[in-house]
Amino acid sequence: MKTLLIAAAALIAPFVTTLAQAADDALLGEARKVAMSIPPKLLASLQEEISKSGPEGAIPVCKDMAPKMAGKVFQETGWKVKRVSLKPRNEARAIPDEWEKAALEDFDKRAAAGESPAQLEKGEMVGNEYRYVKALPVQPLCLGCHGSADQISPAVKSVLAEHYPNDRATGYSAGQIRGAISVRKPFQAIAM
Ligand code: HEC
Repeated sequence: MKTLLIAAAALIAPFVTTLAQAADDALLGEARKVAMSIPPKLLASLQEEISKSGPEGAIPVCKDMAPKMAGKVFQETGWKVKRVSLKPRNEARAIPDEWEKAALEDFDKRAAAGESPAQLEKGEMVGNEYRYVKALPVQPLCLGCHGSADQISPAVKSVLAEHYPNDRATGYSAGQIRGAISVRKPFQAIAM
């Protein structure tokens, strides 16, 4: 009987692994799609507002529109979306938890070793949740609000100082990692 059980387990084992792998790949694909649905829209709105009314006029895009879009995605898909950073601007919503912090630190290391920041991502089951983070690289457009002191206009500086007295999100240069978009959703583990 024992031998039979072991034989059966040996037969099932590769199948279980394949199934678990397939489920993991599907979740990674879904998480990636959810995460990537927001940044291109934000970028387009930033570009539009900056060209209409300068960087100070575009601040509401990063400040209000980003969380609004995240809320809408949650309602539509059940995925919680936020943006996190090792140098947060908004202390109320952008401080990474332990898992996000470890991923961001790993992204910085890998970027320093030559990997392209735009490709950096991580996804895995953590407890009963699938969690995924994708790096958000600094582009030239971002520097008007996240660059060095001489790249940020006095008008932007004064709005930032008013809303974010402890702002740490300046001094970046293009190609660095500004932070990550982080998504999570609870899933029942597959019972086998
Ligand atoms: C017009 C000014 C402006 C521009 C341009 C801008 N940001 Fe921001 N960014 C902000 C503001 C304001 C916040 C704080 C948002 C909040 O209150 O949640 C912010 C927050 C963030 C956050 C969330 C983490 C944190 O530190 O609070 C990320 C990530 C981010 N920006 C990335 C970018 C990237 C990448 C670009 C370029 C593609 C960019 N931003 C361009 C103003 C800007």
